[in-house]
Amino acid sequence: LASTEFDLTKVADGQQVTLKWRGKPLFVRNRTPAEIQKAVADDGASMKDPQKDADRVKPGKAQWLVLIGSCTHLGCVPTFGGGDYGGWFCPCHGSHYDTSGRIRKGPAPLNLAVPEYEFLSDTKVKIG
Ligand code: FES
Repeated sequence: LASTEFDLTKVADGQQVTLKWRGKPLFVRNRTPAEIQKAVADDGASMKDPQKDADRVKPGKAQWLVLIGSCTHLGCVPTFGGGDYGGWFCPCHGSHYDTSGRIRKGPAPLNLAVPEYEFLSDTKVKIG
C-alpha cells in the first residue's frame, strides 16, 4: 500500500492538519507543551486501552502526534478541543479521547490508532 511523505513545517504549534491517507483521515498534530504534559501526567490513570504517551510518539519528538482520525467505535471523525480530556471528542456517540488520542470515556474500545511512520528529517515524515 502507498506511503506518503508530509512536510511538518505546514503545521503550526498547537495546530493540526488532517490529511487523507488510504481512504481515511489522518491527523498530524503539533502538540503544545501543556498537551504533552497532560498526556504524560495521565499515563498511570485507569484506561480501557492502557498505553503510555511515550509509546505513541517517536523518541525526542513528543510534540508530533500522528493518528488515524477514525473513532474506534464506528468510525466517525472525532474533533479536537472537545470532550472531558482536552483532546478529541467523537460527536456520534460521545467518545472522549485525551491529548494522546487515548480513549478515556464513552463507547469506543480502543485508542485512536497510530499508523506506521518514520521521520525522514526533523521536518519530514513518511507515513506508511
Ligand atoms: Fe465515535 Fe460512536 S463512532 S462514539
